[in-house]
Amino acid sequence: MIRAAITAVAGFVPENILTNKDLEKMIDTTDEWITTRTGIKERHIEKDVNKATSDMGAEAVKLLCKKRGIQPEEIDLLICGTVTGDMIFPATANLIAAKIGAKNAWSFDIGAACSGFIYSLTTGAQFVETGRYKKVVVVGADMMSRIIDYTDRTTCVIFGDGAGAVLLEPTTEELGVMDFILHSDGNGATHLHMKAGGSLRPPSHETVDQKQHYVYQEGQPVFKHAVVNMAEVSAAIMEKNNLKSEDVKWLAAHQANKRIIDATSHRMGLDDSKVMMNIERYGNTTSGTIPLLLWDYEKQLKKGDVIILSAFGGGFTWGAIYLKWAYDGSKTGK
Ligand code: UT7
Repeated sequence: MIRAAITAVAGFVPENILTNKDLEKMIDTTDEWITTRTGIKERHIEKDVNKATSDMGAEAVKLLCKKRGIQPEEIDLLICGTVTGDMIFPATANLIAAKIGAKNAWSFDIGAACSGFIYSLTTGAQFVETGRYKKVVVVGADMMSRIIDYTDRTTCVIFGDGAGAVLLEPTTEELGVMDFILHSDGNGATHLHMKAGGSLRPPSHETVDQKQHYVYQEGQPVFKHAVVNMAEVSAAIMEKNNLKSEDVKWLAAHQANKRIIDATSHRMGLDDSKVMMNIERYGNTTSGTIPLLLWDYEKQLKKGDVIILSAFGGGFTWGAIYLKWAYDGSKTGK
């Protein structure tokens, strides 16, 4: 049986950092409120108006190819999870592929908000498992700062910009993407969406005046759904695969709020040392969070480590992946 193994990981975040202290000067908030309610201390924000999501994705994929020692021409397929594409069309994946010279790849985007990376990884894995492709790149990238209202304290403290990428290659060992459970429920759109800019409400002076091109989020209902569903789906994938908490080496959970991650790890019976966490440095980078976690923790990952990837986000979309790490990260990790 052919499985899809992650054989390299890379990431990119813009240089400029926006700290909680900076936000204290911009809106009515405090470092203490943001830290205790979310776990976030700072986030990276792209200042250059000529840069977009594809630029972050391209940087991550360039580093990915360098680390694995492959040429962009070798990539068969490039998938990008994003909700902040450079433009409504073409797909940001098309732009990333062009920027890095992946001229033999076809490419497309997946819009699943904060579940964008796990949806994309699952999709990419299918093309490897069927034996069709040898090299599939999966990117999770979002420049959230471009759709955030920096006068709205309920959303602007949470989000940041960033991108991560992984390479999927075939293996016949018991490694890689072992199983997944994914869900969506469009009824959740009421609580988390962007009102204008699509076919329902195309951009107009009115939509701009009403600030409808920014993230609209009702924090509390989203929080409640996230806590329940992320914990439940993470426990469900363990149960389905007869995994006990001692079998799980790591939880790589979407970084939206430390309290949601804690609830998920408690439900799974994991102690904090098994929980990957970088929310304090990046905030919520939407599709970027999980590959950025894998990039940050790569050095500590060993061949055969069981990792549960788990996410919840706009849609609503949510799910979990049971992954077995395929290589010793101590040599390539940062
Ligand atoms: O990743 C995609 C999915 N998104 C999520 O998972 C986000 C889920 N939601 C959350 O993480 C949390 O709901 C938030 C972090 C957005 C908000 O935290 P909360 O603990 O749910 O706060 P709240 O909305 O219940 O607000 C509590 C109070 C309110 O004041 P009053 O009405 O009690 O006087 C808010 O106005 O906190 C106030 N508040 C703030 N205060 C200082 C809201 N935002 C801020 C802020 N600074 N930035």
